[in-house]
Amino acid sequence: MLVSAKEMLTKAKAGKYAVGQFNINNLEWTKAILQTAQELQSPVILGVSEGAGKYMCGYKTVVGMVNGMLEELNITVPVALHLDHGSFEGAKDCINAGFSSIMFDGSHYPIEENIAKTTELVNACNVLGLSIEAEVGSIGGEEDGVVGAGECADPEECKAIADLGVTMLAAGIGNIHGKYPDNWAGLSFETLDAVQAKTGDMPLVLHGGTGIPADMIKKAISLGVAKINVNTECQLAFQEATRKYIEEGKDQQGKGFDPRKLLAPGAEAIKATVKEKMELFGSVGKA
Ligand code: 13P
Repeated sequence: MLVSAKEMLTKAKAGKYAVGQFNINNLEWTKAILQTAQELQSPVILGVSEGAGKYMCGYKTVVGMVNGMLEELNITVPVALHLDHGSFEGAKDCINAGFSSIMFDGSHYPIEENIAKTTELVNACNVLGLSIEAEVGSIGGEEDGVVGAGECADPEECKAIADLGVTMLAAGIGNIHGKYPDNWAGLSFETLDAVQAKTGDMPLVLHGGTGIPADMIKKAISLGVAKINVNTECQLAFQEATRKYIEEGKDQQGKGFDPRKLLAPGAEAIKATVKEKMELFGSVGKA
């Protein structure tokens, strides 16, 4: 059964480790992540962006697939199904479809509007026992080939949003989605420290987990990060393994064209990436 992310993140924050959110794109992705979490006895959060939700034929299809896998694969570790960077409408749709957790990304609204919309969704989630993530300070990334710098959140605004009763808070600390440019300035631990000082026990979320060096990840966890999002790194691992399979001509040997064979190296590569991250984040054995 899907669970809210509240308990796993409260434990993670208190225990000074982080739970990984791994974004899913299809059945192979979901299966690889769930199997790895079970094998390592780690809690896990499956992230679904609005685009990925659409690609997988809508939120209800995603909920059906994930619930089916939890049962058929005998998954007993805590699993949350979480909307990633949701719009206000998308968040409501996921609540109705059976997600156990949502993110409302109101970081691009003026703070008053972010507060009003977040409040409405906090109330809806509280009634149903779902977890909710809010964001302050937008997280940069590549859009149309231009890499935007990650903003640093205002700690006072973080406190205002945290006080609304959200479960976890994503604060921009110079992190960005996708690969980091060579001239990236690194995470702003000063901002993170100030945000934690204002928000206390609130589990903080680090987006853009791909490519952040291990020592920065560890320092971020020591300063209150309890959830780390990883997406691009699994995509790159899948791509590299699939490319290798085809370049070696394996798809042309025997039944190598069978999608169950063709997609297997990519799935194994996702498993290896998820394992490496869970070990780094310290969530292994914390189910
Ligand atoms: P990356 O794609 O950089 O790993 O970021 C993932 C993320 O933050 C999803 O919200």
